[in-house]
Amino acid sequence: MTITGIDRITYGVADLAEGRRFFDDWGLETVTEGADGVDFETLDGSTVALRLVDDPALPAPFEDGSTLREVTWGVALGDSLGDIAARLADFGGATSDDDGVLHAIDPNGMGLAFRPTRRRAVYVTGARFNTFDRPAMRVNQRSPVYDRARPVKVGHVVFFTPNLDETEAFYVDGLGFHVSDRYPGRGVFLRCNAEGGHHDLFLLKVSDTKRGLNHVAFTVRDLHEVFGGGLHISRRGWTTQVGPGRHPISSAYFWYVSNPCGGLAEYYADEDYLTGEWQPREDWDPTPENYAEWAITGGLDGNTRRQLLPE
Ligand SMILES: [Fe+2]
Repeated sequence: MTITGIDRITYGVADLAEGRRFFDDWGLETVTEGADGVDFETLDGSTVALRLVDDPALPAPFEDGSTLREVTWGVALGDSLGDIAARLADFGGATSDDDGVLHAIDPNGMGLAFRPTRRRAVYVTGARFNTFDRPAMRVNQRSPVYDRARPVKVGHVVFFTPNLDETEAFYVDGLGFHVSDRYPGRGVFLRCNAEGGHHDLFLLKVSDTKRGLNHVAFTVRDLHEVFGGGLHISRRGWTTQVGPGRHPISSAYFWYVSNPCGGLAEYYADEDYLTGEWQPREDWDPTPENYAEWAITGGLDGNTRRQLLPE
């Protein structure tokens, strides 16, 4: 049984029009739209669905207000959803709907679904980088300057959870996720396959009560698209929380923006790619230095070419 990644995320939102405006500016394509909500796609066909916060079809919320209500994990074509149902029997169980999609609730209260993946192969290329040891990766070719981002996929989700151990056990023992790195007692980075990007899910404990959405991260092609997307979203009037910046854990470049649909939205690129040979580091201290090598609170102004440090 192979979980291939995040196929769909569903938000319950207070203001559909505002959410729609955000994801238009974020760089997603609208695929369906009606009175009850709107569905967007990334380039690989991962869906971002917006529904009204009181839509009775949504799983119960795990926090008040606009937030994520369901994460749909894609399963490799040909694999049996029955295997997942059997694995989850000891973890609260799962039920199948009329379309054959499997539904469960994780110990943190997040709605989960499982379906054969509908994501597509994507044939876009990121920039090549000329380094000292490989100076001719890009020959007679300029590096791109992006006027906005077009996210390739939904890369990972991050939740606050007061019950870190129980929620980790659900994903690792129940669903077969792998630990990539850990802040002891504070957070765990998990990936759904032994081989793949550094994390598909990060669980973060900040207190014995805090539960909710921290962010949803969208993969873009390369570092330049992180900057181009962040500058564009800034020009469109949205608020950067922190970014650009770089995480020492996962190595990724990031840019986090406040999302009216709940939590933050992140552009990221150049995360570590892991295999079964990877040894998780289990003793990360939750320090500012381990969160970011550098980062800009409040972001960059998309219209100002020479930006000044604050007085
Ligand atoms: Fe992230």
